[in-house]
Formats: sequence, structure tokens, C-alpha cells
Amino acid sequence: MSDLVRMSFSIEPTLVGRLEQLMTEAGYRNRSEFIRDMIRDRIVESEWRSNENVVGTVTLVYDHHVRGLTEKLNDLQHQFHSAVLANTHVHLDHHTCVEAILVRGDAETIRKVVGLLQQQKGVLKASLSLASLGQKLR
Ligand code: NI
Repeated sequence: MSDLVRMSFSIEPTLVGRLEQLMTEAGYRNRSEFIRDMIRDRIVESEWRSNENVVGTVTLVYDHHVRGLTEKLNDLQHQFHSAVLANTHVHLDHHTCVEAILVRGDAETIRKVVGLLQQQKGVLKASLSLASLGQKLR
């Protein structure tokens, strides 16, 4: 592990209580690790807001009986092939599929791809999990 810097700061007692509550809810036992991870979350948000190179996961839940939908989703992923790293498809039941698509690229392009996937008729849910290439998180 890299060198650590010890910091001290002032905070309202009520916020300390909220911090402890958030830590407990998230299952953290180490306050420093919790604060480090909150900072990392803010860094990742900033990377996405600033249209930096990022990675993420798109989860699509869709009805594969909708005519042409499977082909359309496939075509879109081909169209943006440089942003699509990998794809896992699972048949949830007779009608429903879930696809996890690992994506990488500038944030704007990724959001555009997600928007295009999401608006196809038969897509029940498209969600995007924001992640990072990690250089700024150490
Ligand atoms: Ni399927």
C-alpha cells in the first residue's frame, strides 16, 4: 500500500452520526476505508461528468419475443463495436433475456449507446453502472 497521510477535520456531531449510520448500512467497519471509497465515488462521478475515458456495465432486460429486437440490439452493439468490450447473455425465462454489456470509451459515447439501447421497443430496463479506468483512484 502507498504511504498514507493522516488528516483531521471539523464536522458537526449530527453529520458524524449520519456518517456512522451510512457506514453501518454499507457494512463498513473501518471509517477511513469508508471515506476513501466516498472520495473514489466522487472521482468516478467527476470522470463521467467531464466526459473522460471510462468503463461501465450496461444491464439490459428485454422481451426477446418482440419482433426484430434481438437483431436491433445486436446491430447497435456492432455500430459501436469500439465501445463494447464484452457481452454476456442469459435467458431468464421463456420470454425474458438479460444482457450485461461491458463498455469502455468517452462518457458521452457510452451514454449515447445506453440511450439507443434503452429506447428500443421491448427493452424493459436498461441500467448503467459507472466505473473507472482506475488511474485516479489510487
Ligand atoms: Ni435470451
